[in-house]
Amino acid sequence: MFLPIIQSPVPKMAEGVPCDAKGAVMMASDSLPEGTPQVKGYDFNNGIDYNQLLQSYLYTGFQATSFGQAVREVNNMIDCKLTAPGGCTIFLGYTSNLISSGVRESIRYLVQHKMVDAIVTTAGGIEEDLIKCLAPTFLGDFSLKGADLRPRGINRIGNLLVPNNNYCMFEDWITPILDQMVLEQDTEGTKWTPSKMIARLGKEINNPDSVCYWAQKNEIPVFSPALTDGSLGDMMYFHSYKNPGLKLDIVEDIRRLNSLVIFAKKTGILILGGGLVKHHICNANLMRNGANYAVYVNTAQEFDGSDAGARPDEAVSWGKITMDANPVKVYADATLVFPLLVAQTFAQKHADFCTKKPEQD
Ligand SMILES: NC(=O)c1ccc[n+]([C@@H]2O[C@H](COP(=O)([O-])OP(=O)(O)OC[C@H]3O[C@@H](n4cnc5c(N)ncnc54)[C@H](O)[C@@H]3O)[C@@H](O)[C@H]2O)c1
Repeated sequence: MFLPIIQSPVPKMAEGVPCDAKGAVMMASDSLPEGTPQVKGYDFNNGIDYNQLLQSYLYTGFQATSFGQAVREVNNMIDCKLTAPGGCTIFLGYTSNLISSGVRESIRYLVQHKMVDAIVTTAGGIEEDLIKCLAPTFLGDFSLKGADLRPRGINRIGNLLVPNNNYCMFEDWITPILDQMVLEQDTEGTKWTPSKMIARLGKEINNPDSVCYWAQKNEIPVFSPALTDGSLGDMMYFHSYKNPGLKLDIVEDIRRLNSLVIFAKKTGILILGGGLVKHHICNANLMRNGANYAVYVNTAQEFDGSDAGARPDEAVSWGKITMDANPVKVYADATLVFPLLVAQTFAQKHADFCTKKPEQD
């Protein structure tokens, strides 16, 4: 079949060029406001200077610019913490897989040097930290097949591998501690909460590689309201048959977390990943009508209405971030971004944290 040829009206011509086309292509611009930054990336003719390279991200565009803005926002929260009267209470949240990964070492650095004030993570974020003190996690490949790994007792987290023996060692390590916790509950009236249990485990592991170790040593509370959703839950479940009765009070922990927020002069939130860790920190900040500083690093999208994917502006609508804050979301894998973010912020202010007087806490 042949399509009929439609005769279009003959366009007006100016010097042989159709007027409408020229007008559309050569439309005049409004001038942009004075001071609008210009896009410019790093010039490797200047050699390899990682500090300059990362500073150039702010003017590179796309997620590089978001990274640069996140650096600025985290530095603002640190300056407020170190210099403003009353300081700034910094809340750090991270998903479990980040402790499975080498991001654990960046997090441990922050906790070791008292650079953050409170932590929220999920169960795996606790147990993987402790288990790594007993046996290592290995690098594997995303493509390793579950059906090949299962008979070999190898568990896969993305491209990481955790031998199942690690969890057996964890059970041997934790069972006597759970026995002791039940004893203290029954004989001394200790009321256990997830944060108290995590501090106890951090003390017992007694290993400076551990985030939990430094958190209890530096009295930084670690909150994990869903502490049973991981190997820790498996251990508590098995233990409950051998020696029943252990109770964990999540209400006491929510009072502890919300009180930290309410009595803070200013708050900053730094959240890696989404889900529970993101919402728990944001929800606590509703108690003060919003956090003053906020940085999210995650890969989640908002089109499905998920809290994980919600941009900071959604939290502003709920009163979880203040209306005058300059929050930043970096859409990226935190394993790529977080060590670089620490390098451009906390690590650069290491000496300032060391000289900070305790009364400023
Ligand atoms: N190693 C593990 O991952 C592990 C181990 C034991 C138990 N669990 C349990 O699984 C449950 C779900 O885990 P979860 O709530 O910690 O988070 P999750 O792994 O379900 O991630 C939640 C969201 O965070 C974002 N995210 C995750 N990793 C990211 C990354 N590297 N960079 C940027 N964004 C990222 C994604 O949007 C993701 O949808 C929890 O109850 C946890 O205790 C996990």
